Amino acid sequence: MKKKVLYECIECGYQSPISYGKCPQCDNWGSMVEAAATAGDAGKGGLSPQAKPVTLKEIENLEIERHITGLDEFDRVLGGGIVPDSVVLIGGEPGVGKSTLLLEVSGILAFKSKKVLYYSGEESAIQIKLRANRLGIDSEDILLLTMGTLEDVRSSVEDKKPDFLIIDSIQTINSKSGPSISGSISSMRYATSEIIEMAKTNHVTVFIIGHITKEGQIAGPKTLEHMVDAVLYFQGEIKTDLRILRAEKNRFGSIDEIGIFQMTHKGLTSISDPSLLFLQHRQTPESGISIFPTLSGLRSILIEIQALVTESPFVGNPRRITVGFDPYRMSMLISIIEKKLKLPFYKSDVFLNITGGMTIRETAGDLSIISALISSYKNIVVPKDLIIIGEVGLTGEVRPVTFIESRIKEAVRQGFARFILPAAQSELKTIDNVTLIPVENLYNFYNKIKS
Ligand SMILES: Nc1ncnc2c1ncn2[C@@H]1O[C@H](COP(=O)(O)OP(=O)(O)O)[C@@H](O)[C@H]1O
Ligand SMILES: [Mg+2]
Repeated sequence: MKKKVLYECIECGYQSPISYGKCPQCDNWGSMVEAAATAGDAGKGGLSPQAKPVTLKEIENLEIERHITGLDEFDRVLGGGIVPDSVVLIGGEPGVGKSTLLLEVSGILAFKSKKVLYYSGEESAIQIKLRANRLGIDSEDILLLTMGTLEDVRSSVEDKKPDFLIIDSIQTINSKSGPSISGSISSMRYATSEIIEMAKTNHVTVFIIGHITKEGQIAGPKTLEHMVDAVLYFQGEIKTDLRILRAEKNRFGSIDEIGIFQMTHKGLTSISDPSLLFLQHRQTPESGISIFPTLSGLRSILIEIQALVTESPFVGNPRRITVGFDPYRMSMLISIIEKKLKLPFYKSDVFLNITGGMTIRETAGDLSIISALISSYKNIVVPKDLIIIGEVGLTGEVRPVTFIESRIKEAVRQGFARFILPAAQSELKTIDNVTLIPVENLYNFYNKIKS
């Protein structure tokens, strides 16, 4: 194959035969470096002349037998366990706990007599041993390979025939034959495609760790997303012990589920009752706070919405800042409040925060967000036992939401007894002994909470 010289941006992966001082795609200076490209790479493997179509009916049904690790939150995010021979990418910031999570999973798999090959290009065998000691893992079924090349990994896979392969991390694995710049997009892509091929031919299930940094160097692992079967992101404030695992893509399950863990000295533990964690059981309720049962995959989790509405020093251009919620949707909700309730929010800065690093991506939280905003603005407290649920339309109408009974059940379990909900959903089939307060529109709602 013909080799030609290409230049590649190490920030965004832009390729060009010309080396620019400033990358034309991401505007970074000095980020273009020489990358050896192999012409005709895309056609690798080619078309097989034997390939023939078959009807769907002809294909035998195969039940996938997943490996259940027993680390519940991890299994949940994968869609109910690990699918054999799949390739999963796990991204996250340095220090969030990716190596800890995968060493813990390795320990569990080894305990179940599976053979695991753990490649680390980041830490020495001694460092990994120390972590393993801390996590209480000691097994003959975990093989460590440190600071090697892709070729070393391949020969170990062929020689030792592991059931699982962990690559920690894709940024630190180099190949003797692939692109030479360590950590560059093209070398990560090359390594990933080689590892995927290794997984399929050797029947090994692979987890690939990819670092992403706050500074936006997300491009690296992002460009691998389409190549792998599932992409999980591990998130959390490093200073706190809460960690959330989310699926960004999953060929074998829903991407709605999240896994919630606590980082402890002994490693990550699954949190099976997350509502308890997100709720601050305050002695005296505060204004600006509303509790909302959000839907995450199949379960409902109670989260705290906090709003702060203050007089704005920026006349005509007040601040609108959100953490964990779409700022455009918040602006829309504020405009509805102004129009329908005649509350002049345009003079106020508005901050909205969903606590615990959670996000609300569903419209069912609209009315609860509005109540937090009004609560802060008017300095009135949302009662401790009250939950507010409902989508709000542009005309101020309160619209029905999905899975209302499962949301209410979770809130009842946590001690809430009164519910403001869309009038269209005021009849619940499976829940008794709760006070339901149906509302049709925002005006209706405001009159109920004002008094
Ligand atoms: N001795 C220790 N005791 C408790 N926690 C530790 C200890 N050492 C490391 N940690 C925790 O592990 C985290 C590092 O996790 P690690 O799996 O190495 O992250 P990553 O692989 O994502 O960079 C640290 O941020 C810290 O919370
Ligand atoms: Mg690590």
